[in-house]
Amino acid sequence: MNPNTFTSFDLATNLPAWKALEQEFKQKKDFSVRQAFKDDSERFEKFSFTLDNYDGSKILFDFSKNLIDKSIFDNLVQLAREAGVEKLRDALFKGEHINTTEDRAVYHPALRNQDDKPMSVDGKNVMPQVDSVLNHMKEFSDSVRNGSWKGYTGKQITDVVNIGIGGSDLGPVMVTEALAHYAKPDLNAHFVSNIDGTHLAEILKGLNPETTLFLIASKTFTTAETITNANSAKEWFLKKANDQSAIAKHFVALSTNEAEVVKFGIDPKNMFEFESWVGGRYSVWSAIGLSVAIYVGFENFQAFLKGAQAVDHHFLNAPLEENIPAIGGLLSVWYNNFHGAQTHLVAPFDQYLHRFPAYLQQLSMESNGKSVTRTSQFTNYQTGVVLFGEPCTNAQHSFFQLLHQGTKLIPADFILAAQSHNPIDNNKHQRMLASNFFAQSEALMTGKDAEQVKAEGAEPKLVPHKVFSGDRPTTSILAQKITPATLGALIAYYEHLTFTEGAIWNINSFDQWGVELGKVLAKKIEPQLADPGVVDNHDASTNGLINQFKQWA
Ligand code: F6P
Repeated sequence: MNPNTFTSFDLATNLPAWKALEQEFKQKKDFSVRQAFKDDSERFEKFSFTLDNYDGSKILFDFSKNLIDKSIFDNLVQLAREAGVEKLRDALFKGEHINTTEDRAVYHPALRNQDDKPMSVDGKNVMPQVDSVLNHMKEFSDSVRNGSWKGYTGKQITDVVNIGIGGSDLGPVMVTEALAHYAKPDLNAHFVSNIDGTHLAEILKGLNPETTLFLIASKTFTTAETITNANSAKEWFLKKANDQSAIAKHFVALSTNEAEVVKFGIDPKNMFEFESWVGGRYSVWSAIGLSVAIYVGFENFQAFLKGAQAVDHHFLNAPLEENIPAIGGLLSVWYNNFHGAQTHLVAPFDQYLHRFPAYLQQLSMESNGKSVTRTSQFTNYQTGVVLFGEPCTNAQHSFFQLLHQGTKLIPADFILAAQSHNPIDNNKHQRMLASNFFAQSEALMTGKDAEQVKAEGAEPKLVPHKVFSGDRPTTSILAQKITPATLGALIAYYEHLTFTEGAIWNINSFDQWGVELGKVLAKKIEPQLADPGVVDNHDASTNGLINQFKQWA
């Protein structure tokens, strides 16, 4: 596949709009968003957008506290045009092979296509296969939830253990946590990802093999951590069951690789398939989401898909100047490439979303942590941002000091749902949470100057310590409630934001060659750890560490 099919430029720095933005940045180095609000009483209306979900619910995206004015905004939109964001987006939705280094389509939007509309890859409508897996997921999740799926001794399933890593873990963990309010009380979901034996051992401690169901989640079914954990889980199970035929009731596979699934000992009829055009970090919408469907029920899983589909429709159809995920991506480029920011904070003011930043780390950093363009040139500009986050208000009491008064610019997204699932104490907690959501973005923007600090009676030597510069950018995302549909929409927002960044940087956001080298070396080192001899074929540091480990192990 010729990568030039999708891009008409090599380096983003050569685009006229990029050059115009460089000029803008030079001329407006001291741009004050605080002042911009004073100058324009309609700034909030101009830079905030409402996303309509399929169920009538809405999410408000307020971009107005960012370091932009109309002319910067227009140039950013122009940058997206010149970089061909729309062309690449259309190619994504047409199932073209936009993952050029692996010559594959990137077609997760088909997984949430709930419209009965054909969607094709390589001339073949993929929807019958997608729908048939969804039907299988429905049937299976219903049977586990209603107790008709029985373990080998005839007991109902009480615990589901998803064994997977990366995209085969982070999505299911995050979504089950986020939708815990919708869970069935007598069914527990557990997740084992780490090869550290402690992870599996600690989870298995409290479980009964007779009532435990293992979902072995791996796109390739060759990932070392997952297969080793799955084999150890099988051993633990067989120790008690002592009957190979019992495996069929307790192990299912979520994978694209039938041959390896069968080799592991799982009956292909207990396999939930998906296709190679589903990337690991986009796979929670596929069979990899089976733990979610079991935990919250298939209807809720479907609402989750539909919420994402609503954002797909928006991303595909809205003009760039109103395209919410595209604007999010453009702002990220503005900070990363012109302001020199290296990080991006996502802080959910919502305990249910406590794993959301961890999920977004794979989405963003595995997608855009690249330094070679689609046309195989090294970029002469920064790409992927270092994404991090923790729920608030906790994060306010740990690292927010650096946001308010540190030397670094850290663009931040704050997320809040107006309605809590747990309005305890007459909703007092929610009001306190929301006050902090509003207060943090206001404080970061308005700051506090020396005059104000003095007027408050501060000791003269403390004045500089109590000054807040302000003009620190935030995007506020206000949902109505964290429902399955809202969560689906929020994830899809970040997916398309990440897509927009990658399109402008002209990198392939869909491969992950960077994780290979470490995997290959680990495979070579493992036998050396089992061998009693001294190791001397690495660099001196690695030899020294390995030999010390062997003495102490
Ligand atoms: O290590 C990178 C990676 O390939 C991720 O992209 C992926 O989500 C993860 O490993 C797990 O892969 P699999 O689902 O094939 O086990």
